Amino acid sequence: MSRSLGLSPEVVAYLGSVNPTEHPALRKCREETSSLPMARMQISPEQGAFMQQIARLAGARRAFEIGVFTGYSSLATALAMREICAKPYILACDVSEEWTSKARTYWREAGVDGIIDLQLRPATETMTQRLKAGEAGTYDLGFIDADKTSYDAYYEGGLKLLRPGGVMLFDNVLWSGRVADANEKEPDTAALRALALKVKDDGRVHAAMTSIGDGVLICIKK
Ligand SMILES: C[S@@+](CC[C@H](N)C(=O)[O-])C[C@H]1O[C@@H](n2cnc3c(N)ncnc32)[C@H](O)[C@@H]1O
Repeated sequence: MSRSLGLSPEVVAYLGSVNPTEHPALRKCREETSSLPMARMQISPEQGAFMQQIARLAGARRAFEIGVFTGYSSLATALAMREICAKPYILACDVSEEWTSKARTYWREAGVDGIIDLQLRPATETMTQRLKAGEAGTYDLGFIDADKTSYDAYYEGGLKLLRPGGVMLFDNVLWSGRVADANEKEPDTAALRALALKVKDDGRVHAAMTSIGDGVLICIKK
């Protein structure tokens, strides 16, 4: 799992001790994922708890997620959404059968597999399909946590899918601090900077960047 930027292990442990106890399937997902080579891609438990609060505040009944990996964020969101209505819906987008097959086992264990619709193809294709199918303006919540150079495409597609007042969260917008290093010119870093600047002056949203996790950009569609 990733660690919230700049927090000591002691503060992370403190957060864990005062935040709600993780659902057993979430804990299992986190513990088993920690032995995978790409474990750092997983969001932290405190970010999962934060996202659950956003789902509750948004009254989320329909959500999309781009970047599932082993399923921690989708499971956290699904558990909060299930408190809001009996049959919520999450459109989950990824390209990896290997990682998402693990996600499916945790979803099943928590009894939310029936509400998570996993689509395995590049997420821009899934978004385009859903917009063509008439789903514009029907989602309450979106979480973007995949390839950074596509963040602008996800922003534009996501804005169309969201209803007015809907919320879209972008993960890793601080990129371990690299966005603030003028010598850092990698395409991923440049894409994250470009999105942050675009969103700042975009009259279509209310936006604020937070330092939760590796940085979460919160956009509320006007
Ligand atoms: C940072 S991980 C997501 C972590 C996840 N949100 C969690 O809580 O553990 C990024 C994921 O994005 C997926 N991905 C990469 N490129 C993608 C694309 N073009 N479309 C959809 N998913 C993609 C990867 O397969 C990977 O599972």
